[in-house]
Amino acid sequence: MSSVDEILEPFWRKGRDFLNVRYAIMGGAMSWISEHNLVSAISNAGGFGVIAGGAMPPEILKKEIEATFSLTKNNFGVNLITMHPQLDELIDVCIETKVGHVILAGGIPTAQAIKKLKDAGIKVMCFAPALVLAKRLVKSGADALILEGTEAGGHIGPVATNILVQEILPHIKDVPVFVAGGIGSGEMMAAFLALGAAGCQLGTRFVCANECIAHPNFKKAFIKANARDAVPTVQIDARFPVIPVRAISNAGTRRFMDFQMETIQKYQRGELELKEAQMAIEHFWGGALRRAVIEGDVENGSLMAGQSVGLVKEEKPVSDIVNELVSQAANALSEWKKR
Ligand SMILES: Cc1cc2nc3c(=O)[nH]c(=O)nc-3n(C[C@H](O)[C@H](O)[C@H](O)COP(=O)(O)O)c2cc1C
Repeated sequence: MSSVDEILEPFWRKGRDFLNVRYAIMGGAMSWISEHNLVSAISNAGGFGVIAGGAMPPEILKKEIEATFSLTKNNFGVNLITMHPQLDELIDVCIETKVGHVILAGGIPTAQAIKKLKDAGIKVMCFAPALVLAKRLVKSGADALILEGTEAGGHIGPVATNILVQEILPHIKDVPVFVAGGIGSGEMMAAFLALGAAGCQLGTRFVCANECIAHPNFKKAFIKANARDAVPTVQIDARFPVIPVRAISNAGTRRFMDFQMETIQKYQRGELELKEAQMAIEHFWGGALRRAVIEGDVENGSLMAGQSVGLVKEEKPVSDIVNELVSQAANALSEWKKR
């Protein structure tokens, strides 16, 4: 064991054992981005890569899992969105392909979904947005929890990471708790580990990895952006709900404001029914992440990113990102000990 591993071991042993990896660093699933190349690279670097199931149909997920298995001998997980209409079939794919860990995201999962995975020997991780829900998820059988604050990229809750950590972390002792949202450095990871986190999950920091398939325009936008550019979508009228998503502002986000106004006015003039207008607003961003990540349309597509985008300065290999995080965390912990 290297000296860096030795320093970190007492802090993240629980997380490492749970994930069965060298470093308790999860590469948070990012739709269209976290596919076999990035996921296997994170796992090969000693972290825990996670495939983003996103809107994938079961047969594509199966191919992704098999491709990842062919590129790494190390452990990785699969993130499934609970609202997916084929969730049950996606779970079957994870069972059939013998995935070790499944992360259930996008809402509180049912106890049946958790049970089905656990009965097949799969470890289940869930996102806990509040203490009551954290306790309920543990009762329902969740093997580990993730606390993800509003600083994160993609779909977000309203509460900051620091608050979730204070509210939930001291009260959950039975399962490992991982922290996500706004973590861009090893020093920050060290702080959460010192507070009792079993490990950390980072998404934004991994987008500009060499192994990430995101379009060069997408990566350039990340390198150029400051923390303040990664903002949540704004809802204009409570009757027309907007799911909060944090992304780098661009022409698409500005157009979204105008589109909401125009749609609401059409409803007010009786040209659209309430449901029709709500659906139009809900569907505005359909396919927008793919447009930016895969096609490179960074003006009109969705540039989902966390506030830690301000700490992304260059494109580099996953192993460099992971090693930098690990050595920063170890240095911080040994400096604090000295002081
Ligand atoms: C482009 C992008 C897409 C994301 N897609 C998903 C997703 O499909 N499922 C999910 O659970 N989280 C998703 N996330 C959240 C990440 O898994 C991770 O929790 C988050 O990025 C951590 O915060 P950070 O961005 O501050 O590192 C996404 C984040 C980004 C930046």
